[in-house]
Amino acid sequence: MKQDSEERCQVQSNGGSRTLRSFVIFIILLILFLCYCIPTYENSESWMPKVGKFPPETLINKTTNISLTTVSAGTSAKPWKPPEPYYVAYPNRYNFIINEPQKCQKENVFVMLIIPVAPSNTAAREAIRSTWGSERLVGDKIVSLLFLLGLPTSQDSEKLQEDLLQESEKYHDLLQSDFWDSYYNLTIKTIVMLEWLSANCQNASYAMKVDSDIFLNVKNLVNLLLSSPKQNYMSGLVARRAMVLRNPHSKWYLPQTVYAPAQYPPYALGLGYVFSLDLTVKLVEAAQHVKPVYIEDVFLGLCMKHLGIDLTDPPDGSLFNVFPVDYNRCRYSKLIATTTRSLTNQVEFWRNLQTPGPYC
Ligand SMILES: *[C@@H]1O[C@H](CO)[C@@H](O)[C@H](O)[C@H]1NC(C)=O
Ligand SMILES: *[C@@H]1O[C@H](CO)[C@@H](O)[C@H](O)[C@H]1NC(C)=O
Ligand SMILES: *[C@@H]1O[C@H](CO)[C@@H](O)[C@H](O)[C@H]1NC(C)=O
Ligand SMILES: *[C@@H]1O[C@H](CO)[C@@H](O)[C@H](O)[C@H]1NC(C)=O
Repeated sequence: MKQDSEERCQVQSNGGSRTLRSFVIFIILLILFLCYCIPTYENSESWMPKVGKFPPETLINKTTNISLTTVSAGTSAKPWKPPEPYYVAYPNRYNFIINEPQKCQKENVFVMLIIPVAPSNTAAREAIRSTWGSERLVGDKIVSLLFLLGLPTSQDSEKLQEDLLQESEKYHDLLQSDFWDSYYNLTIKTIVMLEWLSANCQNASYAMKVDSDIFLNVKNLVNLLLSSPKQNYMSGLVARRAMVLRNPHSKWYLPQTVYAPAQYPPYALGLGYVFSLDLTVKLVEAAQHVKPVYIEDVFLGLCMKHLGIDLTDPPDGSLFNVFPVDYNRCRYSKLIATTTRSLTNQVEFWRNLQTPGPYC
């Protein structure tokens, strides 16, 4: 949800544009925004860039029809045309094609990390496995990890599916459900995650959803959880009074017909949020009654509101970061999660933090 905050910043800076000063600030912000977004779109492993890398529609064959054309509309300059049923397809009729039903019990997990990732994004999975994903024990607390995928929509989906089966055979850390993996289906992915956790992971204390372009400090995460409530707990970077974006060009546009209020209820930004396991059953139940929106973290906020459960702010506002934090051993030794600009950064920062020597 990087641009979420950026767009909000821009909207706010428009208000004072009468003076030269705010005009200059606006231009600087705009330049920063452009400098920041363009490389991020190429390097980041979040969803939109993936989608943007799909071949142009003219190259797409029949097998990759609908979802690609719907999805690519989001990256063009034209206002976004909602996919047909608009509201996300969420009847809970999805099935797992690749599953690890024993994972939680076998490992007696304290916190289960779930990383939604595009099927084709092998690079992100490799990077995570070789860095923070390899940290499986903090004190006596067991940390486990699973990547969550939908069905590939790219042209070479058959080959990709074969590769995924082999990858799963090798690492046993993939979950794959049978919905089309696309940006506008991320809410489905999140609910499928909650369903899986409530069915297979009740004995774990916590779970965390982590985006694949995140640097995670596993030790600090576990330490936070050791002193966190064991029930009705959800935390992360909590957005409060966030405005609904009504500009059709916005990545997070929602028309009034779908969501009428001007503001969202509090929600934890999708970069990484943690929750106690007891919430999974409640959220899955709530999801049956809350009108789905495609913005997955907002949707969870709506479900939390439906349940009447407040989100918990982390003890320190610098623990979760939606904008990439420049590397600094001291800073990284204290945070829990931050967006990174590239996988290379993610790996380098983690390696540096493992080297001996003082942090600060
Ligand atoms: C693939 O797409 C191209 C361009 O639309 C088209 O010319 C070609 O016939 C398609 N091939 C198949 C097998 O549909
Ligand atoms: C795309 O077209 C194929 C063949 O016509 C069809 O089987 C498939 O369901 C379509 N894809 C989607 C997402 O509807
Ligand atoms: C879950 O925890 C309970 C209590 O600690 C234990 O009795 C039970 O065997 C555990 N279940 C599984 C599947 O590990
Ligand atoms: C979302 O997944 C469902 C189930 O596979 C599919 O019918 C729908 O076309 C997908 N939507 C998008 C936008 O990919």
